[in-house]
Amino acid sequence: MSTALPMPPRSPDAGHVLLTGASGTLGRVLAPALGDAGHRLHLIDLETFPDPMPARATFAPTDLTDKVALHAACPADVTDIVHFGGINTEKEPEAILHTNVLGTLNVFELARERGARVVFASSNHVVGFYRRTEALVGITALYRPDGHYGLSKIYAESLGRLYFDKHGVESVQLRIGSCLPKPLETRNLATWLSYPDLVRLVLAALSAPRPGYAVVWGISRNRRRWWIDDDAERIGFVPQDEAEAFAGSIQSETGDDITRAYQGGSHCSIGFSRKDPL
Ligand code: NAI
Repeated sequence: MSTALPMPPRSPDAGHVLLTGASGTLGRVLAPALGDAGHRLHLIDLETFPDPMPARATFAPTDLTDKVALHAACPADVTDIVHFGGINTEKEPEAILHTNVLGTLNVFELARERGARVVFASSNHVVGFYRRTEALVGITALYRPDGHYGLSKIYAESLGRLYFDKHGVESVQLRIGSCLPKPLETRNLATWLSYPDLVRLVLAALSAPRPGYAVVWGISRNRRRWWIDDDAERIGFVPQDEAEAFAGSIQSETGDDITRAYQGGSHCSIGFSRKDPL
């Protein structure tokens, strides 16, 4: 899947990380954990960071879609951009285009200018229209987005591919399943990513010596997983948690037939208007 340039391995010293989406649900998990791991942090978001600031962290309110403001907000010595800012679910295509597509383009341009690595929060919704009963889906399987949100993540993954091939910008694309404190419904037995495994995943993506362009499923070691064959081993990601431990206490999945038939769940049924079966 990946190709690596003949670059020197990275220094084992923790770098200076720009964290976008710092005030969001996952940003608030990552900020203290990356700080504890020794990274200097510059946090950005539209919203003020609501928690105590991690050690050696700074915050600046910044709109990702404003290229000039984003470049101005980024410290000169940044080594990595952990890009978790943007719209996190299906919405009107115009809003998704503006925030997720333009915002991510701005992030990759910034990474190119600064020589930084990008760790990007992609999504399982790039393959949401695979049936749950189909064979396990490998990371190089054809995209089957289940909406405009998933489509914006495909743009971002392809941007990573282009910016590595053309400019040598390294990126690790994290195809996150359902990152929750614990699995809530049947679907999550396949898709769950625990918070500690999210932290392990991002730390692995930051410390991997030469990822080049890498794509990794963001899921825990779930025995009911639908997704396989990624670059986890190459970046050194070893998940520790397992959704099955919660199998006795979760709710059966609600929703219509489309929701329950496809891997993307409820995203698949939003605006679904096809008459013949898929
Ligand atoms: P969230 O909605 O809680 O956080 C996103 C943050 O981005 C918010 O704080 C928001 O203010 C900020 N933001 C939005 N537009 C912005 C802009 N124009 N400029 C600067 N900041 C902006 O979302 P969550 O759940 O923390 O997800 C983070 C990332 O992970 C998202 O990209 C999402 O698509 C991705 N992801 C999350 C999954 C999950 O299970 N939570 C699953 C798959 C992917």
